[in-house]
Amino acid sequence: VAPLKVGIAGLGTVGAEVVRLIETQARVLAGRSGRGIRVVAVTARSKAKKRGVDLRGVEWARDPMALATHPGIDCFVELMGGAGDPALSAVEAALNAGKSVVTANKALLAKHGLKLAKSAEKHGGALNFEAAVGAAIPVIKTLREGLSGTGINRVYGILNGTCNYILTRMEQEGLSFAECLKDAQRLGYAEANPSFDVDGHDTAQKLAILASLAFGTKVAQSAVYVEGISSIAPEDLRAASDLGYRVKLLGVAVRTAKGIEQRVHPTMVPKSSSIAQVMGVTNAVTIDGEGIPPITLVGPGAGGAATASAVVADIADVARGIRANPFGRPIAQLRDTKKAPMERH
Ligand code: HSE
Repeated sequence: VAPLKVGIAGLGTVGAEVVRLIETQARVLAGRSGRGIRVVAVTARSKAKKRGVDLRGVEWARDPMALATHPGIDCFVELMGGAGDPALSAVEAALNAGKSVVTANKALLAKHGLKLAKSAEKHGGALNFEAAVGAAIPVIKTLREGLSGTGINRVYGILNGTCNYILTRMEQEGLSFAECLKDAQRLGYAEANPSFDVDGHDTAQKLAILASLAFGTKVAQSAVYVEGISSIAPEDLRAASDLGYRVKLLGVAVRTAKGIEQRVHPTMVPKSSSIAQVMGVTNAVTIDGEGIPPITLVGPGAGGAATASAVVADIADVARGIRANPFGRPIAQLRDTKKAPMERH
């Protein structure tokens, strides 16, 4: 079988790590996929930057659009980020050309996921985005393919590594919000614009994706109520602690009598609860299924290596010829969703 020919747009920490993994894990990946995987072309803002990976023999495409429509690639890997162009046009063009797409771009999916899934459905390519939520945690696969046999009543969790890292260090070390954020940026956890993290939008994007998979709603960030953590001070965390609580930024999507409620806000959780034990950059997602005890997935939620591992797993699925409905159902079955009237629980 001919190897899967991959084009990668964006060679930051994640992109470079994907190139490295495809090379170092070649045997394992070939064993799992039944065929080789080869990076044939790339594009990035700077060609000169030192990345510590071997790109000899790899073609440099002129721009993301040229790469997306390159006749020599089967799978377009989008790691540029951002809800708009160039990511949007390039992903759309790749799908319209019948190629498969792998992306880590939650902002793009939360805003344009439905449109992109329509293109994938129409032209037959896969649209895989395991790395968009919970980095290395296989939560998309779990909801999309693993839990098809049960109805889901609620999905909730800690979906932003940066916020959980900040809250953990503020509580444990009494550091200021600003100091902790600076460290999260230095460690490569935060978004290019960290207000996406601390104001809750990154969590909202991930929640909208999870809600779509769990409940069959049309993915829409606009349907999520959002409140972030930027006004929380160490004193607030101490006060909560004195009462036996910890503060976590949670994303919650729940089936109610009035529809699917999706919300993101700081939440006091009892210190004895399992979610209160989730510290640092770790993410956790709990899925309450019909008639079965909750399932919780916990693991590294941000960082180059964790994100790259999910991207490579998605590429391996493309190589194997596995093609799931992007949001778990045919597009025609996805239901509209809007911001539900909030009830505090
Ligand atoms: N900025 C994100 C976070 C990266 O901190 O969780 C992973 O999506």
